[in-house]
Amino acid sequence: MGEITVSGGKNTAVAVIPATLLCDEPCTIENLPDIDDVHVLIQILRSLGALVDYVPGHHMTVDPRPATGFHVPYAQSSRLRASYYLWGALLGRCARAEVGYPGGCTIGSRPFDQHLKGFMALGAQIEDRGGMVYARTDERLVGSDVFFDCVTVGGTINVMLAAAKAEGTTVIYNAAKEPHIVDLANFLNSMGARVRGAGTDVIRIRGVQRLHGCTYAVIPDQIETGTLMIAAAATRGDVTIHGCIPTHMEALTAKLLEMGVSVTENDDSIRVRPRSDQRAVNIKTQVYPGFPTDLQQPMTALLCMAKGTSTVTETIFEQRFKFLDELRRMGARFKLVDNTALIEGVPQLYGAPVTVTDLRAGAALVVAGLMAKGVTEIYETSYIDRGYERIEEKLRLLGADIRREPV
Ligand code: EPU
Repeated sequence: MGEITVSGGKNTAVAVIPATLLCDEPCTIENLPDIDDVHVLIQILRSLGALVDYVPGHHMTVDPRPATGFHVPYAQSSRLRASYYLWGALLGRCARAEVGYPGGCTIGSRPFDQHLKGFMALGAQIEDRGGMVYARTDERLVGSDVFFDCVTVGGTINVMLAAAKAEGTTVIYNAAKEPHIVDLANFLNSMGARVRGAGTDVIRIRGVQRLHGCTYAVIPDQIETGTLMIAAAATRGDVTIHGCIPTHMEALTAKLLEMGVSVTENDDSIRVRPRSDQRAVNIKTQVYPGFPTDLQQPMTALLCMAKGTSTVTETIFEQRFKFLDELRRMGARFKLVDNTALIEGVPQLYGAPVTVTDLRAGAALVVAGLMAKGVTEIYETSYIDRGYERIEEKLRLLGADIRREPV
């Protein structure tokens, strides 16, 4: 029986760190995951002039007062997706942002038209040229209604950041409801912002003049929790995951139960145990509280050895099936029809050299490697380090035979 504790949430951390720029005093963030995306954001904050005291795995204190910069070159911004939050945070801080295009995983076209539309609704002038977004306003941003054409996590967060210190009230309609939206709202409110309705379709932000310092701990990582649950199911292990929020996991828990995996929830822990043969199930990715796209790939890997044929439909990011070619090399059987993968469960996967194409594909290949007979060599693991804190150490604690080797 294995026990493990999840780290702080990546997608919360990467929103909360830029949000510290809005503060008029130092603030301290706890429970940050020790991952590459966090390290890059710290470098960016420092290059803007903020003072950052970072103790990995413990806390980070940011004093944004000396930060006078508003320019983030493409060489920095392209190192992660969440650099787009600097648009909202810098606009809110100094009414000016010059930030290169975001990078991140290649999992689809990932437009950001809704972010820019939101900033313009608040009165910002936007120029999008040469791989840079230039945003500015001569006066303070002014609160306004923002209607999103699609549910966007990044867009919702960016407008929340820009609106926190705008004049008047901003109302976001068709807002994303993911746990990290609520967490960011809680962080902003801990600094004195007035954000209401986070976690529903409509978020109201009444702008304030100043934000004060605070100490805030980010929520546990929903996707790491899910990945560990899937890894436990994959190895037919008896695993208890501590420090998580079981209500964030309902969509995955329901599917694992449907497959025949035993999942028991406590206040802040989840126990996963094998119960019977694992059956095929059908999955369709959706916005929260639906099945998260970020768990689609690890779940698809698990389904490769479930009894029967599963269908997995990806509705958010069109290129999140690229990794299936790697799984094919391990013996997976599937057919892709538009945005649906038909996965025909096989009795056994076999180890093979495979290459990671994006963060969650990396997690999926690890899951497949845990199930496979023989040795699986996983290349391009830096993708995994963007979002998982020392994944191999955590899995080793659970009894997995996994190690990192220099190439
Ligand atoms: N979209 C638009 N226009 C926009 C913004 C989004 O058309 O202006 C579309 C996208 O193309 C996509 C859908 O809306 O089809 C949802 O995109 P969203 O904006 O919600 O995604 P994101 O902000 O780019 C964040 C996470 C992703 C996670 C998605 C969905 C961060 C840094 N990234 O991305 O995380 O998959 O929300 O939950 O928070 C990951 O952790 O591996 C990851 C990719």
